Amino acid sequence: NIDFIFSAPGKAILHGEHAVVHGKVALAVSLNLRTYLRLKSNSTGKVSLCLPNIHTFMSWDVSSLLPLRPSTLDAVLVQRLHHFTGFPSEMPDTCAMAVLAFLYIYISVFAESRWSKEELELINSWAFQGERVIHGTPSGVDNAVGTWGGILRYHAGTITPLSRVPVLRILLTNTKVPRSTKSLVAGVRDKIKKFPSVMHPVLESISAVSVTCELTLEEIASDPMPEHYAVLEELIDINQHHLQVLGVGHASLDTLCRTTLAHGLHSKLTGAGGGGCGITLLRPEPPSAELKDCGYDCWETSIGVPGVCLHSAS
Ligand code: MEV
Repeated sequence: NIDFIFSAPGKAILHGEHAVVHGKVALAVSLNLRTYLRLKSNSTGKVSLCLPNIHTFMSWDVSSLLPLRPSTLDAVLVQRLHHFTGFPSEMPDTCAMAVLAFLYIYISVFAESRWSKEELELINSWAFQGERVIHGTPSGVDNAVGTWGGILRYHAGTITPLSRVPVLRILLTNTKVPRSTKSLVAGVRDKIKKFPSVMHPVLESISAVSVTCELTLEEIASDPMPEHYAVLEELIDINQHHLQVLGVGHASLDTLCRTTLAHGLHSKLTGAGGGGCGITLLRPEPPSAELKDCGYDCWETSIGVPGVCLHSAS
């Protein structure tokens, strides 16, 4: 019998969403909002999977999973992911990560192995396949930050972790406006195709925002000064405008920006946009109570936490 609990961190993209799909630089952070998953087998020959955060419970016959081995997994993965379409279609990315880790832990149990760097790379690549099933043409940034944790610069498939993680508090706000990442990414692609000479400079500027933000975070990590926060806030405003130009803004996100700005705080969408989540760089007194009055869910998070990991095995 097996009984495992493991988790993957939440994630936010500080800068570079959408532009990263077109080969530009993105800066992504892991958040201390983890998705937990429990995997159990019992004497009835069933294996059950529980994702308490999204109230999801599933079970399979052990015999249908036993033949899985790392070498065969890639071949069966896409088929298995289609099995998982019972999950909410806008399943959070980190839940996808946890599901993929579930598949991996299953292999590990029978191979009696522990996770090495190579194995984490494998988890990352499977999670990427999961992203492809759900989102179509993902850049790979989301699965990378879920796997490795920390703060990552992601550029055309190259992952560079920031050597030092600054202390930064981020308010994550879910507007609860549903959106499809797949169609938002497709909409941006269409816009670039229609107005290439207009849109390419916008993507380039978003990339420059990511790079400038990375340099500022490094400075904050070594010697934080109030001016650094002002720079981060200005970059947030610039990028939020760029994202609106790309066509992924939404009235709910405008409300977030307006409400937080009334408290001197700066916000932008994070991820696909069109509703979904926004981030706010926090100063000492967050306006979360007022945002909750708008019907939003708010979490005060900290960044740069560990990636996917196993908590217990019996
Ligand atoms: C979604 O979290 C981020 C996007 O840039 C899509 C991607 O990078 O795959 C919108």
